Amino acid sequence: MKLIYQYMMAFLVVVVTCLSVISVAIYRYSENMAYQQTWEQLEGYSDNLQKMALKSNPQTGQMNNITFGTFNDLQQVLADQKVTFMMFDNQGQESYPVPQRSNNHKPLLEKKLWRSLKAGNVIRERNSGEDQQFHLFKKHPMTYIIKPWFDDNNNLVAVLYVGSEVSTIRTNMNTMRRNLLLAFFVSTVIAIIMSWFLANWQVRRIERLQQATRQVANGNFAVQIHQEGNDELDDLAADFNEMTQSLQASQVEIERQEQRRKEFMANASHEMRTPLTTINGLLEGLAYDAIPEKSRQHSIELMRNETKRLIRLVNDNLDYEKIRTNQISLYQRNFNAYKPLTDVVTQLQQKAQDAGDQLSLKAPEELPIYADYDRFIQIIVNITQNAIQFTNQGQITITGERNAQQTATIIAIKDNGIGMTAEQVQNIWERYYKADPSRKSTKYGESGLGLAIVHQLMEQHHDQITVESKLHEGTTFTLTFFDEAVLTKKTTNRQS
Ligand SMILES: Nc1ncnc2c1ncn2[C@@H]1O[C@H](COP(=O)(O)OP(=O)(O)OP(=O)(O)O)[C@@H](O)[C@H]1O
Ligand SMILES: [Mg+2]
Repeated sequence: MKLIYQYMMAFLVVVVTCLSVISVAIYRYSENMAYQQTWEQLEGYSDNLQKMALKSNPQTGQMNNITFGTFNDLQQVLADQKVTFMMFDNQGQESYPVPQRSNNHKPLLEKKLWRSLKAGNVIRERNSGEDQQFHLFKKHPMTYIIKPWFDDNNNLVAVLYVGSEVSTIRTNMNTMRRNLLLAFFVSTVIAIIMSWFLANWQVRRIERLQQATRQVANGNFAVQIHQEGNDELDDLAADFNEMTQSLQASQVEIERQEQRRKEFMANASHEMRTPLTTINGLLEGLAYDAIPEKSRQHSIELMRNETKRLIRLVNDNLDYEKIRTNQISLYQRNFNAYKPLTDVVTQLQQKAQDAGDQLSLKAPEELPIYADYDRFIQIIVNITQNAIQFTNQGQITITGERNAQQTATIIAIKDNGIGMTAEQVQNIWERYYKADPSRKSTKYGESGLGLAIVHQLMEQHHDQITVESKLHEGTTFTLTFFDEAVLTKKTTNRQS
């Protein structure tokens, strides 16, 4: 069954049940009230008649007696309400309207009833008309009271029956039933209309969710559902929106990764093709004796260089991948950075001189640092090699010092070489990025992996690296190696 009909059914069942219960309750209550009122009214007639009958004449001191005429007159006055009277004497013999002449003193009223009356109880009854006890009931169902009269000395004087035809109550109740039925019908129609609107509104909200879900299934993660309230469906919509947002974020990340993968494949193939093509060309030259004898040695040297370059490329790639995927374990320890820094300067001095650069170190002889020894050298060598590579006839200075708070050692590698634009600076940490892709390979490599490895290593160390550069003015790389205590605190904070 469609949801809208289920909703409507649910609403209708609730509304119709409520209406039925209320209608029946009102009807019952009104009916009881009507009988109650009639009984009270009839009892009122009886009381007044009793007062009239038992009032003694002040002059004679005799009690007034109610005559047949009184009853006839009263019945005529109350003809509209179809009131009838019946009187019994203190022996239970009918004295009005048909006086019983027999003297057998057998009460006309049932024994049980008579006992109850003698005890002073007032009988309130309604009968269906089949009760044949009183000849007055023969035709119509009646509502009646039977009330005993007592004199001042509490002696039973007489018993009065006052009855009214039920038909008057019935007429009123029928009108009431008709009105209630009409109200019930009108309310049900209104309830159907209202439930349709309500159900339709709810179903539309669900349909909106359904459409949005379909869009997500078709790959549109930008879809958002409008929500205004805070019921369960709005909560669902909010969760849905959150879901699509994270799906969208993952999608962007997946696309970014895919883009990087494609770039990596293109770059890696490109980087490998150049040395392979060179080696292949030279090998073919050698095979077909196309290379003159005097150039052979040089060709072999070239092939060796290109092979080394290939090996380095593969190694660097593997290294980068290992660092990136946390496959290498760093052995971070405290040592004096002065020694490895001097070693690097000595090691790279020749290269610097070849490029006409002056390479110098400014650092105290005691420079405590907390890092992985070998990886620290790798980082410094990579950056210094770059500085030499991109500086011609310039100055390259490596400075090492403790920071002002004495919480870290800062190493800065500064050159006054070609420098970079802001956009180039932004990309240097990317794998295979070269600010100037047209640069031909040099003996130092240039595959665009050096800084990517440095960046990964610094991240693994939980240390910082920043770069400042100006085109044609120079570049400074600043490395902050935090002390062991600072890093331990950082990791515990992160874990908690
Ligand atoms: N000191 C510097 N001055 C100017 N540009 C620099 C400097 N250091 C790095 N760069 C730029 O950043 C790019 C990336 O450097 P990176 O060390 O990652 O690669 P590479 O030196 O080209 O190759 P590799 O280091 O893998 O042999 C360089 O190609 C260069 O354009
Ligand atoms: Mg480099």
